[in-house]
Amino acid sequence: MRLGTPEERTVKGIFLAGGHGTRLHPITLGTSKQMLPVYDKPMIYYPLSVLMLAGIRDIQIISSPDDIENFRRLLGDGSPLGISLSYAVQEQPRGLAEAFLISADHIGDDSVALVLGDNIFHGPGFAGILQDKAVDVDGCVLFGYPVRDPERYGVGEVDADGRLVSLEEKPEHPRSDLAITGLYFYDNDVIDIAKNLTPSARGELEITDVNRIYLERGKAELVSLGRGFVWLDAGTHDALTEAGQYVQILEHRQGVRLACLEEIAWRMGFIDREACLRLGEELSKSPYGQYVMEIARAG
Ligand code: G1P
Repeated sequence: MRLGTPEERTVKGIFLAGGHGTRLHPITLGTSKQMLPVYDKPMIYYPLSVLMLAGIRDIQIISSPDDIENFRRLLGDGSPLGISLSYAVQEQPRGLAEAFLISADHIGDDSVALVLGDNIFHGPGFAGILQDKAVDVDGCVLFGYPVRDPERYGVGEVDADGRLVSLEEKPEHPRSDLAITGLYFYDNDVIDIAKNLTPSARGELEITDVNRIYLERGKAELVSLGRGFVWLDAGTHDALTEAGQYVQILEHRQGVRLACLEEIAWRMGFIDREACLRLGEELSKSPYGQYVMEIARAG
């Protein structure tokens, strides 16, 4: 793959907000899952904040024909946040790996980070880990997290040295408790890999099949997000409520806001303090907006 100078090499972002959210019916009959509130902000803010914290500023949002305009109305072209957002449609939910085909032009010659729209991450030092892994992606980088119900996820098995040895999608009998979270970094080979992928038994281009090809090539790195870290997927009624409660407790206790895009844009240097303050003023009737104003004023 092409290697440029550090300034030339960039990582593009893809944000996938597809699916029918059937496990959340009837809530998702009239809106998409990623628009639902997780306490004080739409779910989409959380995974979007992950890409921004990784320093990724050129992001494509993929969603269904019905929902894409709602995302555009919510987030626009991203310029107020100092990022660039574009939009693409996935006609049918044909699997997560189809994202690389839909976004091939957006990715161009660059590396890419894919984040799933219902994944919420929170933990110490996460921004540092992301920024570290986003540099010189060679192969793929996966993030593992131990859970009680691994059969609901992609599952990774590691050897005694913590190296990844197998990957399975929603196995009936998981070989470990390590779920593969919905955040993935890939080098540019991912486009070709996705193009040559055979659809699974359920007719989808599976992300786990992409990751297995990298694993077979000896190019799949696993980063374990262990104790002290929180990974939530807000895909069921209970998970959605618990995610909201987690955010509420943390925000009340610490007086900070998680996944506050305006704050992140400012702290990452994408916008200046005055711009951050203006964005807060536009939302000044809500505590969220007041928080943005307060932190911008405090400098
Ligand atoms: C997808 C992936 C799975 C991954 C999960 C993370 O599953 O297929 O490997 O562990 O996202 O959220 P889905 O949630 O689409 O069923």
